[in-house]
Amino acid sequence: MTEEKTESVVPEQESDAPETDAKLDDTKPKKAKMPKKKKYAVAGVIVGVVFLACLGFGAWHETPGFCGAICHTPMDPYLATYETGTHDKLGNELDQTEASSMLSYKHKTYMGGMRCMDCHKPVIGQQLSEGANWVSGNYSIAGTNAQGQPYLESRSLADLSEGIGVEEDEFCLNSGCHVATPDREALFEKTKYLGSEYNPHSQRHGDIDCSQCHKAHTQSVNYCTECHATAPVPDGWLTMDEAREKGVVTTPSK
Ligand code: HEC
Ligand code: HEC
Ligand code: HEC
Repeated sequence: MTEEKTESVVPEQESDAPETDAKLDDTKPKKAKMPKKKKYAVAGVIVGVVFLACLGFGAWHETPGFCGAICHTPMDPYLATYETGTHDKLGNELDQTEASSMLSYKHKTYMGGMRCMDCHKPVIGQQLSEGANWVSGNYSIAGTNAQGQPYLESRSLADLSEGIGVEEDEFCLNSGCHVATPDREALFEKTKYLGSEYNPHSQRHGDIDCSQCHKAHTQSVNYCTECHATAPVPDGWLTMDEAREKGVVTTPSK
């Protein structure tokens, strides 16, 4: 298996999200005409535009046949992370407990059938705005997952928030969704059941990005386990080591 980073078609964006390593499928038929990097860059443009078009047209399930047909290829891995929860976007098989640590599945299943668009809002609001990294076409296919489906380079909650011009924390907390936990202090109270010492919402080391732990299209990860082996890992969640094994986290361990 070769590992290769694909090129973005716009200058690299700063992101706190763990970079997704490309896992290219050697069995995929290769067309020799275009150098591979260029080919993926071109694919990136197309995917960006198509993603915009698909979501812009409305609910995932009600996309016009035109869109459904084109979108399905790059969006397939995301559909499983949402509809059935049987796989994460990397193609890892999941049971229902594991699936429920995935924000997209959790929000669909336990929170009144939220749809792609409920989180990927900026697409509609700012589809014409320059500031919307989210939709500006800088999508590249990161590789082919274990189910043989192409998936995209990772974005983070920070990218999503930037698209609608709010701070990362606000995206979930002050969105009219998590109104019962308006700030980090409230989150800390909420997860006291996990123990007071290694409460994941502790601010002992400052404000850790939500997306360092909460993931939408893969299982979530308790980042505290990077350094504290006894930090609590709820059912269905991953330790940092497990997350590396599954390809969810790709940064080298400390
Ligand atoms: C509960 C909110 C939520 C829902 C619902 C949701 N997403 Fe996401 N999505 C995110 C977040 C947050 C990210 C940033 C990466 C992450 O956390 O996994 C993301 C990332 C993405 C990306 C960027 C590529 C990547 O791998 O990071 C794509 C494409 C995507 N989502 C498609 C979809 C589609 C298609 C649906 C519906 C089938 C959907 N999302 C439903 C929150 C959501
Ligand atoms: C160090 C890891 C970590 C970070 C960073 C983190 N969380 Fe959490 N969060 C968790 C864990 C672990 C749980 C418990 C999940 C469970 O028990 O299933 C949780 C639970 C939650 C819950 C559910 C609480 C409940 O019981 O209803 C919300 C909402 C939440 N987090 C939001 C956030 C937001 C918003 C941020 C960023 C401001 C954030 N979290 C940052 C690890 C983290
Ligand atoms: C990158 C490594 C790293 C991560 C990740 C990390 N810690 Fe720590 N933590 C440390 C170090 C080093 C110390 C000792 C120095 C100090 O007290 O700051 C420490 C100390 C602590 C202590 C004091 C008791 C003790 O074990 O020494 C607590 C409580 C704690 N961390 C909680 C957390 C929680 C909760 C998280 C996740 C939100 C977390 N830490 C994430 C490195 C880390």
